[in-house]
Amino acid sequence: MKNSGNTIILTGGGSGIGRLIARRLHDAGNTVIIASRNMDALAETAEGYANIHTLELDQTDPVSIDAFAKRIADDFPQANMLINNAGIMRMEGSLAAKRDLADAEESVTNNLLGPIRLTNALIDQLVAQPNAALINVTSGLAFVPLVLAPTYSAIKAGIHNYTVSLRAVLKDRVEVIEIAPPALRTTLTPGQENNERFMDPELFVDQVMDLLQRDPTPAEVLVEEVDYMRRTEKEDRLEETVAGINPFLANF
Ligand SMILES: NC(=O)c1ccc[n+]([C@@H]2O[C@H](COP(=O)([O-])OP(=O)(O)OC[C@H]3O[C@@H](n4cnc5c(N)ncnc54)[C@H](OP(=O)(O)O)[C@@H]3O)[C@@H](O)[C@H]2O)c1
Repeated sequence: MKNSGNTIILTGGGSGIGRLIARRLHDAGNTVIIASRNMDALAETAEGYANIHTLELDQTDPVSIDAFAKRIADDFPQANMLINNAGIMRMEGSLAAKRDLADAEESVTNNLLGPIRLTNALIDQLVAQPNAALINVTSGLAFVPLVLAPTYSAIKAGIHNYTVSLRAVLKDRVEVIEIAPPALRTTLTPGQENNERFMDPELFVDQVMDLLQRDPTPAEVLVEEVDYMRRTEKEDRLEETVAGINPFLANF
């Protein structure tokens, strides 16, 4: 992908890796539009960064997505990249007994329908731009599920698969890239920020920026910490790896 001079829309820029990536892309010479629900958090990301702009977006709401796409068309008609980074992660309880599906349904609306709807709302604009790129953030859990978050894992697998379709259809028109992070010390779930077994998000974003700036940019941006998960099917060890990352399975 082109490294500077882009106008990049990035969802979920008010926290976590979204905030870090937005600032790094800005410092590389790009204009970045960050979008999410919490405008104060977005403003904090943008403070002191002249070319980071903030726009409100709730990707669970089709009306909000349409209004957002219109603002982009009016105010940033040159926008040539979309990074679908926003999302939530909910722990869901055991699949072995009937349960309330509110968290599962909210995850589908937010993490699956959200990026599908937003990409759809912006695709005509992207296709019309030179040097267009679309980046979807999935997860190592797309390849090996965490059984405590089965819907989240299934959605990430779905977005991985959807990204393959996008890449095939948009070949030579929009560069389609997947970033599949390993577990990171962000506030995605309660307590995760302090989990020493998880990767430092700053270190992760350093490596992501390095991979994004390669020519050609890899279709899948994978750091070493997620390689083991990504290679699971290829190495024919799914059952063993599911057991390995879900050590509590026997009592669940
Ligand atoms: N952290 C990890 O271990 C890990 C691992 C693999 C993949 N990932 C993925 O990385 C991405 C970023 O996560 P993170 O770790 O940086 O967590 P985070 O700090 O919680 O960031 C998630 C961002 O998404 C935004 N968001 C959530 N729902 C939204 C909605 N309906 N509309 C617009 N924005 C929304 C949030 O902003 P508002 O609440 O203000 O809207 C927030 O800024 C996610 O897709 C996540 O699944 C994370």
